[in-house]
Amino acid sequence: MCYFKFGTFTEKEEVGMEFWKLDADPEDARGMILTLDLGPQEKKNLLRRKVLEELDATMDQLVKLSPDYLIIRSGKPNTFCAGADVEEILEVLKNPADVDALLRKAHGILMKIRNATYPVVAAIDGECLGGGLELAMACHARVATNNRKTAFALPETSLGIIPGFGGTQTLPRLVGARKALEIINGQKKLNGAEAAKCGLADACVKPEELMSEARWKAYVTQKGWNERFDHKPKNLRLPESIPCVGKRLILRGALQEVLKKTKGAYPAPLKAIEAVRASSKSIEKGLALERKLFAECANSPEAKSLTSVFFLDKEARSKDWLPGVKAEVPKKIGMIGAGIMGSGIAYAAISSNIPVVLHDTFPDPVGKAVIFIETMLGKAVKIGIMTAEEAAAKRRLLKVSTGDDLSALADADFVIEAVPEDLQLKRKMFAELEKVISPKAVIATNTSSFLPSDLAAELQYKDRFCAMHFFNPVRTMKLIEIAATQGSSPETIAKTLALTKALGKVPVLLDQECPGLIVNRVLVTGMAWALDQLQTLKIDPWKIDEAMEKFGMAMGPFKTLDLVGFDIGYHVMKVMMGYYPQDYPQSVAGIPLNKDKNLLGKKTGKGFYIWKGEEAVKPNKAILEKFGWKTECSSNDDVNAARNLLLLSMTREAKKIVDTGVCKSPDMVDLSLIHGAMLFANRRGLLLNPPVTITA
Ligand SMILES: NC(=O)c1ccc[n+]([C@@H]2O[C@H](COP(=O)([O-])OP(=O)(O)OC[C@H]3O[C@@H](n4cnc5c(N)ncnc54)[C@H](O)[C@@H]3O)[C@@H](O)[C@H]2O)c1
Repeated sequence: MCYFKFGTFTEKEEVGMEFWKLDADPEDARGMILTLDLGPQEKKNLLRRKVLEELDATMDQLVKLSPDYLIIRSGKPNTFCAGADVEEILEVLKNPADVDALLRKAHGILMKIRNATYPVVAAIDGECLGGGLELAMACHARVATNNRKTAFALPETSLGIIPGFGGTQTLPRLVGARKALEIINGQKKLNGAEAAKCGLADACVKPEELMSEARWKAYVTQKGWNERFDHKPKNLRLPESIPCVGKRLILRGALQEVLKKTKGAYPAPLKAIEAVRASSKSIEKGLALERKLFAECANSPEAKSLTSVFFLDKEARSKDWLPGVKAEVPKKIGMIGAGIMGSGIAYAAISSNIPVVLHDTFPDPVGKAVIFIETMLGKAVKIGIMTAEEAAAKRRLLKVSTGDDLSALADADFVIEAVPEDLQLKRKMFAELEKVISPKAVIATNTSSFLPSDLAAELQYKDRFCAMHFFNPVRTMKLIEIAATQGSSPETIAKTLALTKALGKVPVLLDQECPGLIVNRVLVTGMAWALDQLQTLKIDPWKIDEAMEKFGMAMGPFKTLDLVGFDIGYHVMKVMMGYYPQDYPQSVAGIPLNKDKNLLGKKTGKGFYIWKGEEAVKPNKAILEKFGWKTECSSNDDVNAARNLLLLSMTREAKKIVDTGVCKSPDMVDLSLIHGAMLFANRRGLLLNPPVTITA
């Protein structure tokens, strides 16, 4: 219970509040400050139902008090408000009537803030996400800090829903439809400076200047100098304020982009576009549509799947995977191989403040890795998530070495191997490595396809060895699969888990090792059967990709093969075929897919697609002639049959992984496939709701 009382107001009010605290502004008693703090037991401020109820009651109290201004801020460091409580949202989603009631309540509060007769300013230092950002956008002005924890984002579509606290209506009014959709559908996160630049915030200042700037914004708003105060459509930015045409073009472009990316497998981004389209109508009409569209999303199976994935992710991150065994985060990492994976892992390590020695036989990849790391650090400074001093400190954590001499790795207590996928090469390198490192140092292999025990066969100290499988690109892929060999000690696994957590990744510890671990075992089988459909049944590969993408695979099997590169992907396929001959179509064994050095997929600009940078711009039809493929059986029925066969082969493989005890938890298999291969997050993976019936 807290009270506010001060001289300027005649009434002495009492408001029972647990989470909000209303005070007179000590600098100006005619103004008031409303502070949100969920208490010491909560790390972040969340907009729970009770928090909203208290806010609602407070806004009613404030009508009577009629202060000169109100500043809303957080009482916790580094968080303004992290949005709704997903667990509570999940409860609400179970009942459509509850969804409507919650949204009406939220919209009612939003309108009370917007219609307040005094200026309401949000003072934002730290995370301002989801419902937190929507609350801030309901205010008449927002002041952000340049604290690098300050971040603005609307992550709702990643949960299969749309912003429901007015965000689809208030955001385009502030930043225009294009930017709004970048934030809502593109999951773009803005820092304080970026928010101020695009109009989401009215100013970006140092944390110590936050409150004085918020008072100033309240003052200019009260004086009528802040044109945003009236929220009139004039605030709509060009080009969509040019009657309809510009906006229509932007919305059409956004729609095409979503359809290209998701093939319609995820409805929420499409609903978000529909809601943003309504933002040029009155706010009341826009909010009514937002409620309707939110409810449609909330009832969708995709929202149920995506929220469930959210909780699986949380479970994997917080789970005690190895009860009773604890280990410290490695003090120094030795990274062998400075190619695609080695450079990515080295960057991830120094970003987490872990020193790294990056070693490669050749100077050229090391040079490229250093450029890559420099570029990443530079970008981090530019977008404000690191200061220049921090970037310099991280840069100092990186040492490099080249040649055959591995002595630079001698004092590393954890060595990660990412040299080419060649059994003899890896074994030989381990033998050299064991000569220089301590017997206690861990050696973790990033192998894509070998049975980890096969790689460890000639090691002197087998207890130190395990598999730690990262995904490409390391900076964005969340998953790390970990597998013990028969000889791995629990301490080795515990240390690998500790490192995974320190890198901010999601660990999945297999119950038993196998070639390809979980993700590649399923993904590569799918790619092999896709090639078989082209090779033997003459089905159009691009239509197969499209059909799989429509089903919810982020990238069809041929596009994935292009992305990985034929040299690596096809090689891995053949290694896996050796381990699991019964699961693979033998027709694909003899395709000379990795022979033409100019036709290896994305890295050479040509594969099954023509690539421009990161994008597969169009099918590369020439590949058919090159390999003598015909695509004469490509009716819808043929393509659907091919898709079903791929789904069957992948689901069967995933099920085998569970049934044979490789990973006993179907949930963790699904999570691995979703995070490691972007497979069917819209359907919550393959095993909870199998897309096809598997007979024995
Ligand atoms: N690329 C991927 O998508 C991906 C994903 C997960 C795992 N992997 C696995 O990671 C490993 C590395 O893959 P990559 O894509 O980074 O390969 P890459 O070809 O890009 O890099 C390998 C590097 O190892 C160096 N090298 C070769 N022999 C060496 C030795 N004896 N000592 C030190 N360095 C040596 C090479 O010069 C090269 O720079 C492979 O086992 C691969 O299967 C790759």
